[in-house]
Amino acid sequence: MVSFNKLVMFILFYGFMLPTLVVGKPQVPCYFIFGDSLVDNGNNNHLVTFAKAKYLPHGIDFSSGPTGRFCNGRTFADFMAEYLGFTNHIPAFAFSNGSDILLGLNYASAAAGIRRETGHHLGDRITFDQQLQNHELTVATIIDVLGGYDLASTYLQKCYYHIGFGSNDYLNNYFLTSVYETSSMFTVDEFAKDLIHRYKTQILKLYNYGARKVALHGLGPIGCTPYEMSRHYSNGSCVDYINTAVQLFNHHLKLLVDEFNNNKSLQNAKFIYLNIYDMSIEAIRNPSAFGKRFRVVNSACCGMGLNNGAITCLPFEIPCRDRNKYFFWDAYHTTEAANKIASSRTYLALNESDVYPIDIYHLVQL
Ligand SMILES: *[C@@H]1O[C@H](CO)[C@@H](O)[C@H](O)[C@H]1NC(C)=O
Ligand SMILES: *[C@@H]1O[C@H](CO)[C@@H](O)[C@H](O)[C@H]1NC(C)=O
Ligand SMILES: *[C@@H]1O[C@H](CO)[C@@H](O)[C@H](O)[C@H]1NC(C)=O
Ligand SMILES: *[C@@H]1O[C@H](CO)[C@@H](O)[C@H](O)[C@H]1NC(C)=O
Repeated sequence: MVSFNKLVMFILFYGFMLPTLVVGKPQVPCYFIFGDSLVDNGNNNHLVTFAKAKYLPHGIDFSSGPTGRFCNGRTFADFMAEYLGFTNHIPAFAFSNGSDILLGLNYASAAAGIRRETGHHLGDRITFDQQLQNHELTVATIIDVLGGYDLASTYLQKCYYHIGFGSNDYLNNYFLTSVYETSSMFTVDEFAKDLIHRYKTQILKLYNYGARKVALHGLGPIGCTPYEMSRHYSNGSCVDYINTAVQLFNHHLKLLVDEFNNNKSLQNAKFIYLNIYDMSIEAIRNPSAFGKRFRVVNSACCGMGLNNGAITCLPFEIPCRDRNKYFFWDAYHTTEAANKIASSRTYLALNESDVYPIDIYHLVQL
């Protein structure tokens, strides 16, 4: 006869084991995230800045409500953690208590850029250089925990690294001519090259901290954000000169991927480029594609003024109801529905132009 206690034990055991059996081991031991508000998951919550999102309606569709994510639900990085087989989303560096660092950390900070001054008018932010310093601390801890440099280095080489910067260098620097001088110092092409030059040095630093499987998130069509459409009174069409500038950056970023992959002294590393731009344009130009997913592509779900993009999503503002039908969540950021498409198409490419030269699924198998 099975006692009641044994039955309870069985159910607890089985209930506990089930997710492990279904999900299996993550495809990589750890996942580290560097970036801006597209993937920030709370690192700005305690900073003195206007770039914060720990209030409703941000997180309205997220399991734990507002967390600091600039989205109604999950970000690109959240979906990727799920596809990679992690049980939990990768925690924010700011809230890490040390027990979780071996699975990876999210260092991303809203308003951050490649250039140090980018986003300063909004307040504090953790720039890419500072995010790299934070990672250096993590690496030192991992060396301690694993008991030596070689063990840590072997471990860190198996991890997957996401890097996504540049949006703020355009939005909150080059094209914000009332505050920043870069547009009078550089032509758009010079600016793209300057950014890539700085980016290269920063990414090589991450290589020196052990990164070997690295995805570089290309820029989306910033000229199509409700913010830029509203600022340019474009009547719901994308702002071409901004998109042209962003595409120049992407062009040079893709060349950087080739340069890294062809560099003999980086032979055991692989870099990939995620072509967010083309898949976003495809969704915006042809909203009825993607299983007729998007109905509204030129207005934010949460925000006010022209295209709902003049004033971004304010605390306790009532957002649109059919959030799965909107491409843009607020003046700058995409909805969970759009993030799901971009993350799934870069994890497993749907179209060969989605990623370069390989997708994330194949990168992490290397
Ligand atoms: C650390 O945080 C995790 C969740 O991220 C939690 O489960 C764990 O109990 C925490 N540990 C300590 C010692 O606070
Ligand atoms: C703005 O766009 C709408 C619909 O796309 C169109 O009906 C209207 O004529 C346009 N207005 C101007 C000033 O171009
Ligand atoms: C190749 O990588 C090394 C770092 O190991 C770097 O110093 C060098 O600048 C790179 N060369 C090119 C052509 O990118
Ligand atoms: C793949 O992407 C390219 C560039 O965005 C586009 O021209 C082409 O139609 C796409 N093909 C498919 C099958 O979606």
